[in-house]
Amino acid sequence: MNEALLVVENVVKHFPIRTGIFQRKVGEVKAVEDVSFTVESGEIFGLVGESGSGKSTVGKMILRIYRPTEGTIKYKGRDLSSTSQENQRFFTKEMQMVFQDPKSSLNPRRSILSTLEDPLIVHGIAKSRRQRKDIVAELLQKVELSPGYMYKYPSSLSGGQRQRIAIARALAVNPSFIVLDEPTSALDVSVQAKIIRLLQVLQKNMHLSYLFISHDLSLVRTIASHTAVMYLGFLFEYATTEELFRYPLNPYTRTLISAVPAVTKEEKEIKPENQSRGGDTPSPVNPPSGCVFHPRCILSDNTCSEQLPMLEEISPGHYVRCHHVSKNIVIAEQYKKNLARNE
Ligand SMILES: Nc1ncnc2c1ncn2[C@@H]1O[C@H](COP(=O)(O)OP(=O)(O)O)[C@@H](O)[C@H]1O
Ligand SMILES: [Mg+2]
Repeated sequence: MNEALLVVENVVKHFPIRTGIFQRKVGEVKAVEDVSFTVESGEIFGLVGESGSGKSTVGKMILRIYRPTEGTIKYKGRDLSSTSQENQRFFTKEMQMVFQDPKSSLNPRRSILSTLEDPLIVHGIAKSRRQRKDIVAELLQKVELSPGYMYKYPSSLSGGQRQRIAIARALAVNPSFIVLDEPTSALDVSVQAKIIRLLQVLQKNMHLSYLFISHDLSLVRTIASHTAVMYLGFLFEYATTEELFRYPLNPYTRTLISAVPAVTKEEKEIKPENQSRGGDTPSPVNPPSGCVFHPRCILSDNTCSEQLPMLEEISPGHYVRCHHVSKNIVIAEQYKKNLARNE
């Protein structure tokens, strides 16, 4: 078997909290506590979870914006923590990121041409201005904008157009892997659909792989081939998207699915029961003991408040973190039956 494109193993990220003139460390934000998954070449891997669950921090560790406190990340077999110049250059060229808000990620004082030719200069992709203009025109065409856009400034563009420019900038170095962090959540729904379609076309045509980060479960369901669910820094479940949505084995995953608005009467009937007791998400500065979901979980017992469950492979490729495997299987079987009955 070929080695996976990206392998994330037991990654942890703690941010120190400092105060006072001596900047004494008084605590830690446990943004990411234990996350492992693999992304195969040419796939869209979805990462979902409520706001504050640590998704962006995972994306930023993959892009080497943050260094993991513990754990390893390998891309094409090379360790991201390697400081060799050759590896650093390799990662910068191969892996790119598109953020949620194109307004703040594009420099308002620079024309689109100047924004897009930057990576071409840095990576020595084109030597002359003429060559660079040609490539910029090609990049604009890839994101379905006419070449004339190169002379515009971000302020004269719509949100959707700005996000197209951010995508073009990521594509400039011809990467293989792109982290898309909530790439459409700042956009109107109609624009959102167009950008998603563009991202899908680009992924196919350029054989790209994406880590697609979103809090929007329905969106991830339509776009990703695998989906992983995060809560308070932990990965709670991870499987093919098809399996995760038809056979959710973790109470938190079922809570997320049950929170997706149901449109039809049938949808309302077959939704999994909400597995949460409600309540706010605890803080990652002072997370609950044992399983961090236990205060909100309807299955929780003493074991859950005392021991952290490990991420276990329950069936091939389906990983779940929960002490109540057999109960979860009963609930998921019932849910799957209800789905089948309504099809
Ligand atoms: N640079 C940072 N310094 C301190 N805390 C941070 C930093 N970045 C993120 N956090 C905290 O880490 C937690 C996870 O954040 P984030 O990864 O942005 O979550 P998500 O993307 O799922 O909303 C949050 O509590 C956030 O406040
Ligand atoms: Mg985020």
